Amino acid sequence: MVKISPSVLACDFSRMGEEVRKIEEGGAEWVHLDVMDGAFVPNISFGAPIVGALRPHSSLVFDVHLMIEDPIRYIDRFVKAGADYITVHVEACTDVAATLRAIRESGVKAGLSVKPATPLSAIEPYYDLCDMILIMSVEPGYGGQSLIPETMEKMRMLREILSHRDKDILIEVDGGINEKTAKVARECGADVLVGGSAVFGKPDYRAAIDALRG
Ligand code: DX5
Ligand code: ZN
Repeated sequence: MVKISPSVLACDFSRMGEEVRKIEEGGAEWVHLDVMDGAFVPNISFGAPIVGALRPHSSLVFDVHLMIEDPIRYIDRFVKAGADYITVHVEACTDVAATLRAIRESGVKAGLSVKPATPLSAIEPYYDLCDMILIMSVEPGYGGQSLIPETMEKMRMLREILSHRDKDILIEVDGGINEKTAKVARECGADVLVGGSAVFGKPDYRAAIDALRG
């Protein structure tokens, strides 16, 4: 069954611990933590201290999405903060293989992400070093955007490529996921759906999470 990873980017930042508890009560399995540095993406969100502060409030899988330049510099800090998955962008790494290895050697699962315009050929050399591939379905940097339809075909292609390998690699999709696009994303092979505004923008988190799950 598909897993739901609500993005706290859309939650009430003044009550983050409570918000994370509410999505756990609402049936989410994961929580998505969007880290933005104002360089790789225009926006600045939060860093490892916030992730660490949330950790005691939740037993959800901590799914940390690093939208930062040269992320290898910060892997240790997010490991110590309690990340379960750390996802980096192929476009942001000076050495992709070394970054993925550093994540795994810390005992954390490694994810690799591609922006909408980055072809799958850019990540193909690294599949053996990945536990998850994150297909960005919007330009990273902001919540509340509309899903770019072409990214669904890319995800379908990735699902097809991965089906010929023995190793299980999860496919996550992030950006513009709502009840309607979630259905398409599930059909195209997503294992994990990220939802920001589609969860935290709704009055009833359980109903919102159920709607994404379909
Ligand atoms: C975008 C972030 C997303 C974002 C999703 O850069 O990576 O995780 O929070 O927000 P929605 O679901 O509102 O598009
Ligand atoms: Zn994200």
